[in-house]
Amino acid sequence: MMHVSFENTLKKIPFEDYAEKVKAIHHNIETKQGEGNDFLGWKDWPETYDREELSRIIKSAKYVRDHFDVLVVCGIGGSYLGARAAIEALNGLYSNDKIQIIYFGQTFSPNYIAQVMEYLKGKRFAINVISKSGTTTETSIAFRMVKELLEKQIGKDKARNAIFATTDKARGALKTLSDTEGYETFVLPDDIGGRYSVLTAVGLFPMAVAGIDVEAVLGGAREAMKLYSVDDLSKNPCYQYAVARDYFYRHGKSVDLFVSYEPSLTQLGEWFKQLFGESEGKNRQGLFPVSVTFSTDLHSLGQFVQDGTPLMFESILYIKRPRYDIVVPHSEDNLDGLNYLEGKSLAYINEKAFLGTLEAHVKEGKVPCMILEADQMDAKQLGHLFYFFMRACAMSAYLLGINPFNQPGVEVYKRNMFHLLGKKGY
Ligand code: PA5
Repeated sequence: MMHVSFENTLKKIPFEDYAEKVKAIHHNIETKQGEGNDFLGWKDWPETYDREELSRIIKSAKYVRDHFDVLVVCGIGGSYLGARAAIEALNGLYSNDKIQIIYFGQTFSPNYIAQVMEYLKGKRFAINVISKSGTTTETSIAFRMVKELLEKQIGKDKARNAIFATTDKARGALKTLSDTEGYETFVLPDDIGGRYSVLTAVGLFPMAVAGIDVEAVLGGAREAMKLYSVDDLSKNPCYQYAVARDYFYRHGKSVDLFVSYEPSLTQLGEWFKQLFGESEGKNRQGLFPVSVTFSTDLHSLGQFVQDGTPLMFESILYIKRPRYDIVVPHSEDNLDGLNYLEGKSLAYINEKAFLGTLEAHVKEGKVPCMILEADQMDAKQLGHLFYFFMRACAMSAYLLGINPFNQPGVEVYKRNMFHLLGKKGY
């Protein structure tokens, strides 16, 4: 469950003025009449997902956990950010889990790629290559390399059983390659775009390999789906969040600052940025999504948030109960002057940092803040959160009159790059 608070928004959000518009958009979403209506598969997915495939995901994940030490997740954008966000949010950054997850295929960086290839030498690793189109260049290059390394290390036959492909059910080079090689494949459904795909095999297979209870993730998403699929704005915190964003945008704010107080949620911020940035940033419109991790970034961007150009509002994700806690120890000589905190838990200190910052930003900085508060971060809560943001994002984009599900702007760099690389037809 999640509580969304609008008590620190400085101005009262005029929800009642939006009620009819939200109802109309909701109706269009539900009856699939809005722009981009071919890509609404994520909306009912927590109920309509393919049960047979989920069993295969869980079974294959167990196989990977039992036979390998590393899973290489090879994908970019929507084909990797959700899995990474989930795995870091739930397992932390220094997990002792028996399997290590490495992210690959999300860059052309020769340094990164060469270093990962070197690291994998001699290791028992499996690969999950993820690409809806099956032709994304970053992913395809990385996969070609890592597949070759795997085949060299364990032979082509064994490599076949160590490669799992998540792609379109019928189209694309990756589908053809998987069929030819006989890889286990999972499907990214036609009506779900990359950045809305975290609850499909795209996110669930890597999560399951990382030991996450994916049925609980789907259960949390299902709970959110029921709560947030109502057209009455006064009863729908998810749509209220979208409305508040729209209101800020129309009242001089152009930046949505996603804030968390957990380094393990930094990648959730990356996922958030892609979801909102790629969905809304069109037709010279849209809020620019930025993410920060406090208190770390209070020592870098904090100055700007407090005192700089008044561009932004904050979407603060606050998790009340951390999974682990630890207290400040006593020191005999107290040379660092910290004995006033002796015996206090880090959860307590982090909470005071949050409350102190909130007051500083709202009262003195005049930065409107919304707080999305959850009791704890677990698989169910994460599923809930993913769904909350996807639904809020669709509503936000439609409030701006924008199709939330395409990304025409992303093609421009690719065209130029392909031309420079001499690809046929460019
Ligand atoms: O959200 C999106 O559509 C994109 O971020 C894609 O997920 C990303 O470009 C990767 O595409 P593909 O899955 O086709 O390799």
